[in-house]
Amino acid sequence: MDGNGRWAQARGKERVAGHREGAESVRACVEAAMENGVKYLSLFAFSEENWGRPESEVSFLMGMMAHLVVKELKAFLENGIRFLVLGNRSRLSSELNATIDDVIEKTAGNDHLTLILFLSYSGKWDIVQAVNKLLASKPAGEISAADIDANLVTAGIPDPDLLIRTSGELRISNYLLWQTAYTEFYFTDTLWPDFRKKEFAAALQEYARRDRRFGKVK
Ligand code: IPE
Ligand code: MG
Repeated sequence: MDGNGRWAQARGKERVAGHREGAESVRACVEAAMENGVKYLSLFAFSEENWGRPESEVSFLMGMMAHLVVKELKAFLENGIRFLVLGNRSRLSSELNATIDDVIEKTAGNDHLTLILFLSYSGKWDIVQAVNKLLASKPAGEISAADIDANLVTAGIPDPDLLIRTSGELRISNYLLWQTAYTEFYFTDTLWPDFRKKEFAAALQEYARRDRRFGKVK
C-alpha cells in the first residue's frame, strides 16, 4: 500500500491525512476481495524499514493500526473474516500486541476471508528467522525449500497469486521475497488512498488474463 504521503502532499495536507484516507481504501479493498471470492488478502502496512521514519509518523501509524483493528472487529465477526498479523511482533508495543492478539483470537474460527496485516515485516527478516529456527531444531541436517516454507511466518498460507503495488513504484521493497517466486505482479500509478473497489476489480481482471505456466509448457 504505497503513496499515502504523496496523496496528502498533492493536496497540501500533512502526510498523516494520506494514511487516514488510505485506511478507507483498506476497507474498500477488503469488501472488494470478499465480493470477488478472494480467500486471502495480505496488506503490507508497515515494513521493518518504516521504523526509520520520523517518530511522530511511526507513532501515528501504530495508533491508527490499534484503533482500526478494534473498530473493525465487529465487521470481521459479521463477515467471517479471520484476522492475522505477521511480522516482527517483538518490535510492537505490548499494548498493540495485546489488542492484536485479542482480535486474532476472536476471529480465529472464521474462514470466509483471511485478512493478513504485515506489520514490522520484511522478507529478508522472515527468511533469516526461518533459517535460525531450522538451525536450532536440526543443527546437522540439510535444509530443503519445504523446510524454509514451513518456518516462514507465512507457513500454511498459500503463496500469493497476485501482488498489487500502487503509486507507480516498480520494486518489491523487501516484501514477501521467498513467497512471490511465481506471483503475478500488477503495478499501477494510482496512489493507495485512491485505490478503491473499481481499481481492485481492474487488477483482478488483468490477473485473469495472465497465462501462468510455472516454468512449464502448456
Ligand atoms: C504507504 O504510503 C504507507 C506506509 C508505508 C505506512 P507512504 O507513506 O509510503 O507514502 P509515500 O510513498 O510517501 O507517498
Ligand atoms: Mg512510500
